[in-house]
Amino acid sequence: MAEGKFSGPPAALSTDNNNCGNGCDEKSTEQPRAGLSRRDFLKRSNAGAVAVGVMTGTGFTAALIEPAEAQVAAKPAAANAAPPAPLKSRKLTLDIDGKKHDVTVDVRESLWETMNYQLGLANSNLGCDRAQCGACTILVDSKPVNGCTVLSARNGRGQKILTVAGITKGPGVAGLHPVQRAFWLEGGFQCGICTRGFVMASYALLEKNNKPTNDEIKEALAGNICRCGEYPKILSAVQKAAAEMRGEKVVYTAPLITGDAPVAVAAPVANAITKQFEFAAPLGTIEQYDDLASELKQRPGILGVAGSERTIAPTWDPAKIDEAGVRRALAELGHAVR
Ligand code: FES
Ligand code: FES
Repeated sequence: MAEGKFSGPPAALSTDNNNCGNGCDEKSTEQPRAGLSRRDFLKRSNAGAVAVGVMTGTGFTAALIEPAEAQVAAKPAAANAAPPAPLKSRKLTLDIDGKKHDVTVDVRESLWETMNYQLGLANSNLGCDRAQCGACTILVDSKPVNGCTVLSARNGRGQKILTVAGITKGPGVAGLHPVQRAFWLEGGFQCGICTRGFVMASYALLEKNNKPTNDEIKEALAGNICRCGEYPKILSAVQKAAAEMRGEKVVYTAPLITGDAPVAVAAPVANAITKQFEFAAPLGTIEQYDDLASELKQRPGILGVAGSERTIAPTWDPAKIDEAGVRRALAELGHAVR
């Protein structure tokens, strides 16, 4: 706007009711309208003589109420409102981990509640109890769902409900499903609250796709939250489980914390090389580093990775890869080093 030409705020911003913003003067046009007023119209139309205007967002509420008949007419709706529906229960049979359970459930009861409180099946954890964390993830007909939110009453029509207890094949670490074993041996957990949910969501993914990319894993596990932040190990656990499910030999480096016979532990490489490199462009976050480290570890010959947003120090087996190969792998993963 040119200097000196300002003539007041536009009409939409003006608090002056007499200024229409277009140079007109409404003082003289504010005339009582001929014909029906809104009140007259309501009276004559016999529309219950009640008008309620609500402008949400502006906080403005206007009510125009013609007393007598209107109030009498309005009251019965509230007074005669039907009482809340009585609590209803339903008899059904839940198919959980291949076993049938006859139960009577409140129609508002979640699957998690029925399993834990009625059946004593502590096969899934409760985190948020509001469909936000995924700790309670179980499968219904192969689809991951939040047990805290899915209603039991809707799952008694032959749906197959699967929990971590239903995917084991036998006792001990060797009897665990590859996904469970990978989380255990790879250390994809700390407190464990989220773990059963992650295991079931990963299981659902790997049953459909046993060669997922890291992005596909992240997408499939997007509904699961780990407050302990074990995401890099969760990612590598899922990759190792996928490899085992594809029939590949899997090597775990995490120390076993069980009396079971070792499943597969890497033999130390005598002449392994470790060297620190500086990223040509520092990473934005430590999470980016975690993703990169997890992907680099999957390359043949890479034995371990340490580092930060600025530097990375891979350890490699010189019989399988040399320094140029390590640099090339980092560049291929989008993070060249000096
Ligand atoms: S406990 Fe069900 S989603 Fe968190
Ligand atoms: S291991 Fe603690 S929340 Fe995931």
